[in-house]
Amino acid sequence: MNNSIRLQKYIAQCGIASRRKAEEFISAGRVAIDGVITREMGIRVIPGEHTITFDGKKVEAEEELVYYLLNKPKGYVTTLADPQGRPIVTTLIKTSKARLFPVGRLDLDTEGALILTNDGDFAQKLQHPSHEINKTYEALVKGCPPRDKITMLERGIFLEGKMTAPASVLVKAKIGGNCLMQITIHEGRKRQVKKMFAFIGNPVLQLKRTAYGKLTLGRIALGDYRQLNPSELNKIFL
Ligand code: URA
Repeated sequence: MNNSIRLQKYIAQCGIASRRKAEEFISAGRVAIDGVITREMGIRVIPGEHTITFDGKKVEAEEELVYYLLNKPKGYVTTLADPQGRPIVTTLIKTSKARLFPVGRLDLDTEGALILTNDGDFAQKLQHPSHEINKTYEALVKGCPPRDKITMLERGIFLEGKMTAPASVLVKAKIGGNCLMQITIHEGRKRQVKKMFAFIGNPVLQLKRTAYGKLTLGRIALGDYRQLNPSELNKIFL
């Protein structure tokens, strides 16, 4: 039968015990399928369809932890469901069956680096303010901010009742009458970059996140992604 697995193997995969020990548990009547205790060795179950319990507690297979770096295009939401039916970022990761979720958020019209994972602990660590993870953005802004306004953003501005943390801000290019700015912040307030530039009178026209810490987007094309190996994750915390 497709997708079916021997009960003792499934219990072992769930990290409850070795396969031999799992057999002992089954013989001892400690394992139930859909609420019915079974002592039958070798019985096959379909994870997700059958509810398996051990001493009355549900057991679930541990998923391999995976990490992806996506170059998010505009028009995708970073939530897992959207009442307005807009496209969801996780659908862009075509090669994984893991239950992925995005770490943090990017606005609908923001492009760039977004990490997706099924590792809840890692996601929490990445977003915890104590780690002060730098996030770098390129913002095309209306006009070109003068030096004193850039210094204001670098030192911190009073935004919605609270000072922003120090940031690093530089002009990357002048494009017509507008400027392409690079800004690195470690806070993650909602629409923070847009609000910061709006505050100094240079609203953001286009926004792209280019890096988390020292982990950069590199050559990943818009809408494309790559899997990160666990050692690369350290680059985020540098
Ligand atoms: N700051 C913003 O204003 N928008 C984003 O999507 C990310 C950071």
